[in-house]
Amino acid sequence: MIIASLLSLLLAVPAFSQDIVYDAGHNVTAIYGTWSSGSQNVVTGSGFAQPANESFIYPKTTGLSYSFTTDGYYEISRYRMTGNGTTPNCITGVMNWCHGTYALNPNGSITMTPFGDGYQQIQDPCAAISNFMENYNDTELYVLWNIYQDAVKGYTLQLYQFDGSPLPPQYLMSTSPNMLPTQPLRNVTPPTTSAGNTQNALVLTAANAGERRWGAASLTGVLTVISGLGIASLLL
Ligand SMILES: *[C@@H]1O[C@H](CO)[C@@H](O)[C@H](O)[C@H]1NC(C)=O
Ligand SMILES: *[C@@H]1O[C@H](CO)[C@@H](O)[C@H](O)[C@H]1NC(C)=O
Ligand SMILES: *[C@@H]1O[C@H](CO)[C@@H](O)[C@H](O)[C@H]1NC(C)=O
Ligand SMILES: *[C@@H]1O[C@H](CO)[C@@H](O)[C@H](O)[C@H]1NC(C)=O
Ligand SMILES: *[C@@H]1O[C@H](CO)[C@@H](O)[C@H](O)[C@H]1NC(C)=O
Repeated sequence: MIIASLLSLLLAVPAFSQDIVYDAGHNVTAIYGTWSSGSQNVVTGSGFAQPANESFIYPKTTGLSYSFTTDGYYEISRYRMTGNGTTPNCITGVMNWCHGTYALNPNGSITMTPFGDGYQQIQDPCAAISNFMENYNDTELYVLWNIYQDAVKGYTLQLYQFDGSPLPPQYLMSTSPNMLPTQPLRNVTPPTTSAGNTQNALVLTAANAGERRWGAASLTGVLTVISGLGIASLLL
């Protein structure tokens, strides 16, 4: 009895003391609205993904965009190119779209749970299959976020991925989110676990593992170091 209550106290205290406070030091404005990185050519909503026929409209430049509603829905649009020095002609392009529900957790993280109708297109001129579309249904965890005022770009959202690596900063485009309808927009058959699908499942896992490190290498401008419970921002 006593041990049990001591244990629950020990478990409760750290969680309680770490609860995040959404004051101006953490976020100078609310997260609701549409955010976009770089030159802001990638934007959520009807200008990027057409889920009904699983197609995309290609933006002029790469980037990423997140939208959040006040009642718990999110949408993500991402367009990324990656190359490497050894084979400069082998530039891989990825278009990725998903939406679902999000939660601002007490420990300061954000969980984004997709509806299951997300999809992505991989273009790799040097791969055996150079262009293909696949379902994208990953639950994403962002361990930390903050919003600060940039002297030139205005309100700036900084998201940190599951491994602590920062995404490129995103700038507020509108406080009312620009999004597709917040419900499943195409029929997707959940993957089966039959032996015949094992290889396909492995391929999806590998692609999605890379996905979670989205854009970590393309950060410019602000380097933010997570130290303990605090955040120290250094201008480069
Ligand atoms: C910080 O963000 C939360 C969630 O969007 C919001 O409720 C809160 O009002 C924001 N804080 C400030 C100071 O704007
Ligand atoms: C998909 O549908 C949109 C209209 O919703 C249309 O403009 C577009 O051409 C279609 N794309 C493909 C590849 O069928
Ligand atoms: C560069 O890309 C090629 C083709 O995709 C790949 O075979 C090679 O392993 C890559 N090299 C590095 C260092 O990632
Ligand atoms: C923060 O909370 C989320 C949701 O409960 C959880 O998935 C995540 O592991 C927690 N992170 C840490 C560092 O405790
Ligand atoms: C998406 O993922 C969730 C949670 O892992 C799962 O319950 C659901 O069946 C998946 N949907 C599809 C279409 O794969």
